[in-house]
Amino acid sequence: MGATQEIPWSELWAAAHEASTGAYAPYSKLSVGAAALTNDGRIVTGCNVENASYGLTLCAECGLVGDLHRTGGGRLVAVAVTDGDGNPLTPCGRCRQLLYEAGGAACQVNETQTVGELLPGAFGPDDLP
Ligand code: THU
Repeated sequence: MGATQEIPWSELWAAAHEASTGAYAPYSKLSVGAAALTNDGRIVTGCNVENASYGLTLCAECGLVGDLHRTGGGRLVAVAVTDGDGNPLTPCGRCRQLLYEAGGAACQVNETQTVGELLPGAFGPDDLP
């Protein structure tokens, strides 16, 4: 599957909402789920996992990138991120960088934007010697 593949947004929204049910968010009380389509047609997911040492919290997108590599790697084509009610959530700055690494600037986010729009002028693999 390539850049022209149809994005199954309803499936991604449903998978992100479902993933949010696994969230461990006793501190912020904000459950987050993320789901993405990969370039070979898989759907990978993640949820946020908080920690009593707050700064160690893992965002849903971190789990999603782990799931990407755990299940065979490849590239992210489109990502949906929701809260526990299924409402869209924009990725935080650190997660924009994670999505840039795993999907590049063209990766679509929440049906309305791309990673390149969310993280213009990104530092990435091409900037390394
Ligand atoms: N969170 C995510 O999972 N992804 C984001 O892109 C934004 C923030 C989580 C981290 C924390 O558990 C909670 O939302 C509140 O910041």
